[in-house]
Amino acid sequence: MRVVALGATRGMGRSLTRLMAERGDRLFLLGRDPEELAKAARDLEIRAGNDLQIGSAHCDLEDPDGFTGALDRAAATLGGLDGVIVTAGIFATQEALEQDPAAARRLLEVDFVRTVEFCEEARRRLLTGGGGTLCVFSSVAGERGRKPVVLYGAAKAGLTRYLEGLDHKFRGQGLVTVCVKPGFVRTGMTAGLSAPPFAGEPDAVARQVLSAIDRGTPVIYVPGAWRWIMLMIRSLPRAVMRRVGF
Ligand SMILES: NC(=O)c1ccc[n+]([C@@H]2O[C@H](COP(=O)([O-])OP(=O)(O)OC[C@H]3O[C@@H](n4cnc5c(N)ncnc54)[C@H](OP(=O)(O)O)[C@@H]3O)[C@@H](O)[C@H]2O)c1
Repeated sequence: MRVVALGATRGMGRSLTRLMAERGDRLFLLGRDPEELAKAARDLEIRAGNDLQIGSAHCDLEDPDGFTGALDRAAATLGGLDGVIVTAGIFATQEALEQDPAAARRLLEVDFVRTVEFCEEARRRLLTGGGGTLCVFSSVAGERGRKPVVLYGAAKAGLTRYLEGLDHKFRGQGLVTVCVKPGFVRTGMTAGLSAPPFAGEPDAVARQVLSAIDRGTPVIYVPGAWRWIMLMIRSLPRAVMRRVGF
């Protein structure tokens, strides 16, 4: 596959692109920090073990004017695109966001509005090329309105619905949408938070996501136990949700 990845410098994006490089997929990295991008690209080149250079370009989810140019560079370097992976995103606690309206606006913009704008650019390119896979990381936080993730969860709920709509509208034209819903995964994003039972590790999650990409699975919960946890949480009455703390 010829794949462009936004968010491969850390966490689950780094784990996923490592697996893809090791099996011979051709990658192009997008991100906001040139030094981190260069380091990630070099790491992937070593893992790929061939002489191919892995290209990268600046792309910041807070700067939508750069999306077109970044994807153009990726497509030109790879000679086309078979897949686009979006693991970029930000998180802050509900308490922090309630106290800082600017931070709340930034999170809502990055995790929903800008991510959708980026995906729209990616979708157009993939469809123009005859189809391909758009794999985007949403969250179980978007499954139900919950006290600790009111704002983050709202952004991810919007993203999940958008991806569902893309699947319904464009699957027949060759666009394979993979919506990844992580539960709690131990990455830099969750550092300092107390891990619940069934917390996952990024490398194990990446293996599950790669398998979903290969199979074209439209929705995947990672680790898998979160599918059943969220089934239970979705069924709880509102009166219970008001009383419990999760
Ligand atoms: N970890 C979890 O438990 C969990 C649970 C549910 C959902 N998720 C979602 O899964 C995805 C990956 O999470 P993760 O834990 O792997 O996160 P992570 O380790 O914090 O990595 C986040 C990535 O996003 C990039 N990024 C952040 N802001 C950006 C921006 N404005 N423009 C471009 N790139 C930006 C970061 O790049 P830099 O190197 O420049 O910082 C980094 O590569 C996210 O969408 C997250 O919301 C995570």
